[in-house]
Amino acid sequence: MPAALHRPEPVLHHHAQPVDRNVPTAQATAWLIEGRSLIVTDRFGTGLDILEALRVKLEEPDEDAGYVRKRAFRDAFQSASKRLLAPVVGRKVALPDAPRAGFLSELYPDHADFALPVEDAQVLSSAWEWYEQGAHFPVLGYRVHPFYGAYLPARMEHLELFGTWLAKYKGARDRAIDVGTGCGVLALQMAKAGFKQVLATDINPNAIESVARQLRRLPKAPPIELHHADLLGALRGPIDLIVSNPPWMKGEVGRTLDLAMYFQDGFFERFFGQALQCIAPGGRVVLVFSNIIELSQPDVPHPIQTELDRGRFTLVEKLTRRVKPLRRRTREKVEVWELAAV
Ligand SMILES: C[S@@+](CC[C@H](N)C(=O)[O-])C[C@H]1O[C@@H](n2cnc3c(N)ncnc32)[C@H](O)[C@@H]1O
Repeated sequence: MPAALHRPEPVLHHHAQPVDRNVPTAQATAWLIEGRSLIVTDRFGTGLDILEALRVKLEEPDEDAGYVRKRAFRDAFQSASKRLLAPVVGRKVALPDAPRAGFLSELYPDHADFALPVEDAQVLSSAWEWYEQGAHFPVLGYRVHPFYGAYLPARMEHLELFGTWLAKYKGARDRAIDVGTGCGVLALQMAKAGFKQVLATDINPNAIESVARQLRRLPKAPPIELHHADLLGALRGPIDLIVSNPPWMKGEVGRTLDLAMYFQDGFFERFFGQALQCIAPGGRVVLVFSNIIELSQPDVPHPIQTELDRGRFTLVEKLTRRVKPLRRRTREKVEVWELAAV
């Protein structure tokens, strides 16, 4: 039986105070920060204006800001924004200009009328847009349609760098695994590169759902086998190529998508321990990573370097590439680390 999918928690009972565009956004923002619940009654746009004012009021930091500042902003924003509600009637956001969110009917078979934080309604509707339109991945040559709650890469450079590495790979192509597959791009790249069997795991059931739906969309389903599992799960070796694009920073996991961004103590030790059990003779462990951890968490020991220092693996090659900033200037680089068992 597949695990229950993650979804924003429906608000079934509330005593929220009605707000519309006649309430100044500064006033609404102050109420949210004080802890009052509000429900938007006129237009979805009113809710978005209040959220924008909240971002400004809480001083949203730059892309390159340190982890602590970014996280403090996010926690403050989340706790205030979740008190700003939108009504849902008949599994549709009941505000005239609300964008369509088809996931409401897929994810809430048990409730038709409830409320949702405006922020969640917005995330559901933009997720629906991505799901319907898909995002083109030049490394694959086709569009990937991410299901709600599956991690969709915001940039391409790390996937291109992995593609560069994969094009030079000379090892066996019998079995590969993509640990933490998200919406499946690395697994699909390996299938395209001719691996006979590609296993793909994720701890997030929405990611597994996403790849399952993607496979059904493709004219000829690639040989990808999905497992809802922690790391390599119960899988056994030998595996020629163990690939992962793990979370790049250490931190607390609150929302489902935090699983894509933040690792916790023991994550890499467990990953490398399991990899060691499964790797085929002459096989490789390849990690798609970034220097963001060095830039924004300089006090956190580098998890791959720490493993190399333990002496169970040796570094075969490391590729790096600058990234184009998403918003402002950045010193971020993406990396591909190729390791072999000693
Ligand atoms: C940075 S995303 C990478 C997704 C995808 N491989 C890509 O390159 O776009 C990390 C993924 O690892 C998954 N993940 C996090 N912890 C995990 C665990 N313990 N076991 C399996 N997957 C995990 C997350 O749910 C997320 O999908």
